[in-house]
Amino acid sequence: MKILGISGSPREEEVSGSYRLVEAVLKATGLDYELISLRGKTIGGCIACLGCVKDNVCQVRDDMAALRAPLLEADGYVIGAANYYSGMNALCHAFLERWYQFRHQEADALWGKLAVAVGVGSMSGAAVCDQIETFMSYNFVETVAKVSGRGAASCFTCEYGESCAVGAPVMMYGEGVKITEEMIPDVTRQATVMAAAAEAGKLLSERLRKGYDRWEVTARMQEVMMERFREST
Ligand SMILES: Cc1cc2nc3c(=O)[nH]c(=O)nc-3n(C[C@H](O)[C@H](O)[C@H](O)COP(=O)(O)O)c2cc1C
Repeated sequence: MKILGISGSPREEEVSGSYRLVEAVLKATGLDYELISLRGKTIGGCIACLGCVKDNVCQVRDDMAALRAPLLEADGYVIGAANYYSGMNALCHAFLERWYQFRHQEADALWGKLAVAVGVGSMSGAAVCDQIETFMSYNFVETVAKVSGRGAASCFTCEYGESCAVGAPVMMYGEGVKITEEMIPDVTRQATVMAAAAEAGKLLSERLRKGYDRWEVTARMQEVMMERFREST
């Protein structure tokens, strides 16, 4: 049984809250896992060329092509992204748009699989978690848990953080702020967030280990989608 972790943040893994929170969830599963960072990858958004409709294989040649096999092989996913302007960062959005290739003509390769959504923002990652959950539902993947944490805004280390009026340090601590190491939000120092990550990993692992009916999950997720469709019309 294998879990695929995706960190959608474009920042270095050592400073990315998304990367570290996804890693924490993966470790808590106790299962075999692979963690892939999208940082540095060239992945464009779906261009609606419909090249994938016949065989469910995206025809766009970029770094998404190499991620197709790990996505198909995984039994579950832990997907994390950064909060940019109250939504997920563009790289992760582009990556998830490209899951469109799995949606055609009864392509059930991902149906009924399970996921954990991870979101990190300088204030909150909750909206990002919700967005990931929505993306998952389009492939009838159930999000079993959501983990939101507070990450380090780049303003803490950009060199202008103590004087920039629109930067996070001044906004959070006021004018005249002197930045210290302790002020910089770090998901691994947030006890409730790390506990939620551990809990999410455990839950995902339990659901997978004890075995479950993928088609029951699929049917439930189809109903969720139909309900959303009915509400929007
Ligand atoms: C372009 C940009 C926009 C951002 N917008 C928000 C925002 O709307 N809300 C928020 O809470 N954090 C915002 N942030 C802060 C990031 O979410 C924060 O730095 C977080 O730690 C990023 O995740 P990462 O550490 O995995 O890269 C923004 C950062 C950037 C670079």
